[in-house]
Amino acid sequence: SERWHDVFDAGTLREQGLTNVIVEGRDVALYAVDDEVFASDNRCTHGDARLSDGFLLGDEIECPLHQGRFSLRTGEPMCAPLQRPVRVFPVKIEGGRVFVSVD
Ligand code: FES
Repeated sequence: SERWHDVFDAGTLREQGLTNVIVEGRDVALYAVDDEVFASDNRCTHGDARLSDGFLLGDEIECPLHQGRFSLRTGEPMCAPLQRPVRVFPVKIEGGRVFVSVD
């Protein structure tokens, strides 16, 4: 079962597009795309880069270091040089807050 953590203001996330939060010691990137929200591990699987420093391209995040792109829906790598998926987490908005589960 999922344990939800109240981590961020939903309106602020929509304004910013992306940010990062620390949840149970884990660095988690949050993304707002239209009416949806996504969450992933903040570390690129290719190198030493934070995805929250990257660029949102629709429902993909582009890594700032070598421009690899991950699907935010699945975590799957969409192009070179990425080979391994990034972990994605369940996330939801309730009462104007963003909740994420990292179990
Ligand atoms: Fe992210 Fe290389 S560190 S694509």
